[in-house]
Amino acid sequence: MTEHVTIAQDGGVLTLTMNRPDKKNALTNAMYGAMADAIESAQDDKAVRVIVIRGAGEMFCAGNDIGDFMVAATKGNVHEANVFRFIRLLGTGAKPLIAGVQGRAVGIGTTMLLHCDYVVLADDAKLTAPFATLGLVPEAASSRLLTALIGHQRAFAMMAMGDPMSAHEAAAVGLGSEVCQPDELDEAVNAAAKHIAGLPPGAVQATKALMRDREMIAATMETEIKVFGERLQSAEAREAFTAFMEKRAPDFSQF
Ligand code: COA
Repeated sequence: MTEHVTIAQDGGVLTLTMNRPDKKNALTNAMYGAMADAIESAQDDKAVRVIVIRGAGEMFCAGNDIGDFMVAATKGNVHEANVFRFIRLLGTGAKPLIAGVQGRAVGIGTTMLLHCDYVVLADDAKLTAPFATLGLVPEAASSRLLTALIGHQRAFAMMAMGDPMSAHEAAAVGLGSEVCQPDELDEAVNAAAKHIAGLPPGAVQATKALMRDREMIAATMETEIKVFGERLQSAEAREAFTAFMEKRAPDFSQF
């Protein structure tokens, strides 16, 4: 367990809150573990009708903790890290997922939204997926899912070049169900969660299953995980992580 994820159940709504606001909710191995455990046990718990993912403070999530990336890169065997357990569960989970997003969503903060069934965006939400700029590659099947959603060139701009997507742009392409004012976010998320929790659960889960190409998603995730593991241990990634920690611009001219 970690104090950086809070888990609360209210009726049929299980809410997981990334709660590390001083580090902009950057996700550590322990945080992925806590979230994966909760999502996993919710699958067999009839009392959980819908799972909500939130971020505490001004920002939804700054992505994977870069210090943890650095540790994983030097340790090898990254494939068993909790991040990949979490990612695989996003792809296979039967229960509907909702996210409420304010401020920045970076990396997996954005790619997890591709697996959500209902996403409420505060109008200050800014989604980025700067994988190549970190020496990495897309994960969570985003190489296919985001590309399918917005086309190759826009997806390349986001995942290779680091371009952001605003809340309104995201909602316009179907990466957001609704956009609200930041001070209306809690209410909008709660309303959506209550609505979904009141629907017939078997029909909701069967509908979700029919809509998702789980085989493609699982196969894409495994391919990405392999390349991601290799990239994580590259000199390019090491330079990007070191630059972030030293609060300087990375220098890729040597590669
Ligand atoms: N991993 C580790 N620490 C992180 C982090 C991350 N992904 N994101 C933010 N932090 C830490 C910062 O190092 C800083 O720590 P410090 O107070 O000890 O110096 C603290 O959180 C606040 O971040 P800061 O950069 O000062 O906030 P900001 O509002 O100026 O910028 C971001 C927010 C998200 C734009 C910026 O922190 C950022 O770019 N983070 C990295 C995002 C990223 O590349 N994630 C990986 C994606 S695969």
